[in-house]
Amino acid sequence: MENKGYDQSIEINSITVSYDHQGESFCPIIWIHGFPLNKSMWQPQVEFFKKTHQVIAYDLRGFGGSTTEVERTASMELFAEDLIALMDGLHIEKAIVCGFSMGGYILLNALHRFPDRFSAVILADTQCIADSEEGKEKRNIAITDIQENGLKSFTDSFIKSVFCEATLKHKKEIVRPIKNLILNTAPEAIIAALKAMANRKEMCEALSQIEVPTLIICGKDDVITPVSEAQFLHENIAKSSLQILNKAGHLSNLEQSDHFNKAVLDFISNLPHLSNNKLYGNESMKKAPILEEISLL
Ligand code: MLT
Repeated sequence: MENKGYDQSIEINSITVSYDHQGESFCPIIWIHGFPLNKSMWQPQVEFFKKTHQVIAYDLRGFGGSTTEVERTASMELFAEDLIALMDGLHIEKAIVCGFSMGGYILLNALHRFPDRFSAVILADTQCIADSEEGKEKRNIAITDIQENGLKSFTDSFIKSVFCEATLKHKKEIVRPIKNLILNTAPEAIIAALKAMANRKEMCEALSQIEVPTLIICGKDDVITPVSEAQFLHENIAKSSLQILNKAGHLSNLEQSDHFNKAVLDFISNLPHLSNNKLYGNESMKKAPILEEISLL
């Protein structure tokens, strides 16, 4: 296993990926951030789960401390290949992976193409549909706005859409850092990710092939990937459970971090051979009994 710590880096797929790697457990939990954020969005989860589990939060190409030059056009396929290359680079055969929003689009793509690399998944505030024509048009308008005016107006309207009213009014300590984070992100990476999301394939047909235990989480007031989309995921993924978080919009892991963490902890604790069983240490994963026997809520 590579070095542990915050802001570690590794060369994979011809890029440098920055990641935080904390804690100990047999099966790591990997966290994929959403658009246009970076691994710091997972701070409440990394700090909570590192006490009992091995956690890895990483920056997608173009974001945070990962390579900022977007040499190749970004796509969900390429982001998914980066995830697998990161796992290979860190010698991780299988992991529990949590994808938030665009991170969920990446996770659904990776699950479809590399199903053997996942022990369980968490789909947070995400959906399986592709962009509608109207959705694509909105992305194009955002790209033109960023190219002509920089990130300010894009950031202001994004912030209004990702938090619920109560968070915007009463939790400025959550809103402010997210705003600053976006304003400090490379515009080229944001534009590349907007194009990647507009061009992404619909993954709904593939849901029935997901065989691993799946937790779906959604903020009750999420207007970007609404509860109806989370319900659709739940209805179409066999071993899935759904948690709706009150008083949360799209960024439910930040707006209701305690409830989010509890939902994830309960889910992981129901995966008896994947939760923090120190007896397994770093021994071969072949010792873990097959997951198909586990049935969830
Ligand atoms: C995200 O939070 O990753 C994006 O806003 C999702 C999207 O725009 O489709």
